[in-house]
Amino acid sequence: MSASSYDVIPDFGLLYDNVPLYAARKDIGFYVQEAVAARGAVLELGCGTGRILLPIARTGCSVVGLDNSRQMLARCRDKLSAESDATFSLIIAPFRIAQHLTTVPDQMRFLADVLRHLAPAGRFIFDVFTPNFAALVGADGVEHEDTHPSRWCAPTGLNRVRTR
Ligand SMILES: C[S@@+](CC[C@H](N)C(=O)[O-])C[C@H]1O[C@@H](n2cnc3c(N)ncnc32)[C@H](O)[C@@H]1O
Repeated sequence: MSASSYDVIPDFGLLYDNVPLYAARKDIGFYVQEAVAARGAVLELGCGTGRILLPIARTGCSVVGLDNSRQMLARCRDKLSAESDATFSLIIAPFRIAQHLTTVPDQMRFLADVLRHLAPAGRFIFDVFTPNFAALVGADGVEHEDTHPSRWCAPTGLNRVRTR
């Protein structure tokens, strides 16, 4: 796919959102009304930074946005997650997701976001490991799974992590 012209200027999404002419467009109500009337999932082609997609999402409609600009889409995602107040009974971060966060500020933000989206009495389940190069890569130089299957069990229908 060829690069999007919207990705040529750094932070173009920020610029786009601050163009008064775009911000003042009167089309939002129309598209939101049509989305609600559709009574089903909505797909927005070329959703950009979410100028239309976000107001549709706020009504509770299920909406998917496509865009070939990485910058526009990233800004749309950020805006969506910043205002999302959805809560979940269970939040999972399987296969060492937390260990992809290598700085304490990133880890703190991660936990704060989890807390913000966890329903009262909800559970957050994640797994981490102690990196051990010798255990991961043996003499054959190939990566091996180092978590024994017996560490995962489902006594209640939900997988539970056993501690060592
Ligand atoms: C004028 S903006 C409109 C954005 C949004 N629909 C709105 O109303 O604010 C056009 C958007 O279409 C996207 N776009 C242009 N060509 C595209 C293509 N071939 N495939 C997907 N998205 C495309 C751009 O990246 C940009 O985000």
